Amino acid sequence: MLKVWTRRGVIKVGAAGVGAVTLGVRMPRIAGAAPPPLEVKDSYVIGYPQTDENNPWRIAQTNSVRDEIEARGWTVEYRNAQESTQQQLADVASLIAVGVDAIFLPPREETPLAQAVLQAFEAGIPVFCLDRNVDQSIVQAGNQYVCFIGSDFYQEGARAAQWLASTMNGEAQIIELFGTTGATAAIDRNRGFVDYLAGSYTPDHPDSPTAATPAPAPADGFPGMEIVASQTGEFTREGGRQVFETLYQANPEANAVYAHNDEMALGAIIALEAQGVVPGEDVILVSVDGSRDALQAIIDGTLGATVECSPFFGPIACDTLEAYAAGEEIPPQIINEDRFFDPSNAEEFIDEAY
Ligand code: AHR
Repeated sequence: MLKVWTRRGVIKVGAAGVGAVTLGVRMPRIAGAAPPPLEVKDSYVIGYPQTDENNPWRIAQTNSVRDEIEARGWTVEYRNAQESTQQQLADVASLIAVGVDAIFLPPREETPLAQAVLQAFEAGIPVFCLDRNVDQSIVQAGNQYVCFIGSDFYQEGARAAQWLASTMNGEAQIIELFGTTGATAAIDRNRGFVDYLAGSYTPDHPDSPTAATPAPAPADGFPGMEIVASQTGEFTREGGRQVFETLYQANPEANAVYAHNDEMALGAIIALEAQGVVPGEDVILVSVDGSRDALQAIIDGTLGATVECSPFFGPIACDTLEAYAAGEEIPPQIINEDRFFDPSNAEEFIDEAY
């Protein structure tokens, strides 16, 4: 029996495999498949179909990947999907047509991009999923693609919830600014946060590959911590500003914000200040990423804290590719160790932020 990691838990798949249903289509699952092999070479051509470049995190990720590829004398075939899942699918197809050696893929959405991974697999091109993952009921790391390299988003949500519950003494009316719908980062940041507040977060939760921290919440959770509104701000500052403005008008009793990334939290801060409300006093905010602007906002007292999500994938992605080409066994999930920034350390780390 093959053990497969899924969003809902660890399930067992028989040697003959099982079919997985997605988008109303019955997908064939390739039982016992191995990711396409990769030759040892002096230089590789790497396909890098980025989701967008509209926030500092994405720009830092692109720079890290591009700089590392070029420093090794390899070549990058870069694409920018400009926030379009359809465009990212087309970009992967074009990289397959070009015949790149491997693809470093940050999937914009889990389910559609699983199809792209399947196409690369069929074309014999190894894929390394960077930062976000793909739908495990369609393709699995170590099977149709090499591995997932990224943060533990579920744990990030739980760490944000722990900080907020403690800071608010267990009583808050929360507006949640969701990331891109269908993106691993948004799905798991929401689940980790909600589960922690409900008391159902456990360090061995199947959606959390590491989960060493935070410690589990009390069994009955935090009944006084209520999410009063939740909507996507698409991971952008302007999206966060606009959505927060609307949600806050409808929920003026809100006194806390959980944003799935720093940019949306910074957008909410702009909206609050425009209304004469004091962020950091009247409304307490927590987010995820650890950008320079976010650390400055912590120093300024407008943002309470941010859970780090490192965008620096270049070295780990290239090292993993070389190890794979050399025939080393690659773990299906390689998880970044992330820090936590609050007023106690923002000043210390701001110079290394992006
Ligand atoms: O997938 C990681 C998320 O994507 C980052 O938190 C966000 O800023 C980016 O757009």
